[in-house]
Amino acid sequence: MRMRLAIVGGGVIGLTVAWRAADAGHHVTVHDPDPGRGSSWVAGGMLAPVTEGRPGEEAAQDLGSLSLERWPDFATELSAAAGRPAGLRTQGTLVVGLDPGDRSELDHLVQWLTARGRQVATLHADALRDAEPGLAPGIRRGLSVPGDLAVDNRALLGALQAAGERAGVVHVAAPVADPAALTALDADQIVLAAGARVADVLPGLPVRPVKGEIVRLHHRPGALPPPTHTVRALAHGRHVYLVPRDDGLVVGATQWETGHETTVTVGGVRDLLDDATAVLPGLAEFEFAEVIAGSRPMTPDGLPLIGRVDARTVLATGHGRNGILLAPITADAVLAELAGEPLPALAAAAPGRFA
Ligand code: GLY
Repeated sequence: MRMRLAIVGGGVIGLTVAWRAADAGHHVTVHDPDPGRGSSWVAGGMLAPVTEGRPGEEAAQDLGSLSLERWPDFATELSAAAGRPAGLRTQGTLVVGLDPGDRSELDHLVQWLTARGRQVATLHADALRDAEPGLAPGIRRGLSVPGDLAVDNRALLGALQAAGERAGVVHVAAPVADPAALTALDADQIVLAAGARVADVLPGLPVRPVKGEIVRLHHRPGALPPPTHTVRALAHGRHVYLVPRDDGLVVGATQWETGHETTVTVGGVRDLLDDATAVLPGLAEFEFAEVIAGSRPMTPDGLPLIGRVDARTVLATGHGRNGILLAPITADAVLAELAGEPLPALAAAAPGRFA
């Protein structure tokens, strides 16, 4: 049945649901003053359930792996629908540690991942250098995780907007920023994809903002080439990731529990640059292109909130560090919910679990 669907929030989740729903024949409006921006615009774009996984977060890793399986077809279909690349990069991920403490933490991670049946290979000096020649000389061992991919988040957002437009999605600039505006929406069904701001619209939802700062570096003539793999590192106990782009790379990301503010701090940028250049010293020759911060929509258990909360409202929010990874499975789950056939695989993300 063709329905009038209002989507609140035009980040990666809202735009993905919008394109898929319009493609399925629904009349779709996306309500956002600035679609394609927010934390989706800031993101590193890792599609990395294995290397982002941590003991205690098994359910989140399983959900991420299910979504990652969808990514290659999703990117192909999106590129065709949009008439432009979706930005998927398939070169895989390397993980390294700088000091003995970092390397011992990575050894624990390998044990956990291997016990979970995830594909991880240890690389020693020559193989590691062959894979990524710019790594600092002191890094003599690392992990290869070929299944963890990446996407250029800004190419992705552009493709989603183009595909949505072609499928008939209408953008509405007036914000839906409080419960009264939500109630006033003229629609058969509403999908709430308002990210870290969702609790302003539906008070009481257990979603809090966690600020993340990133730095973008551009390649300069004469500098070492950017990495081809995503490189994640533990640098003296701090996590840093370096995600390639066609023109350089994204370095991320800090984590701050400072509410909705998104100022960029001196200490945050200093740590990112220190850690990035400790891993790939040649980055010192790159152009410092951009710093920006966004708010991750975090839930208490690290799993998103996807599913129906009342007869007219479906949640698609709380994706924390993994909104881009989880976009394809979230859209499938929302469409299944709208069709009255919720996906069993999404039980762990049911919004009622905190009640
Ligand atoms: N997924 C990476 C981050 O949230 O920083």
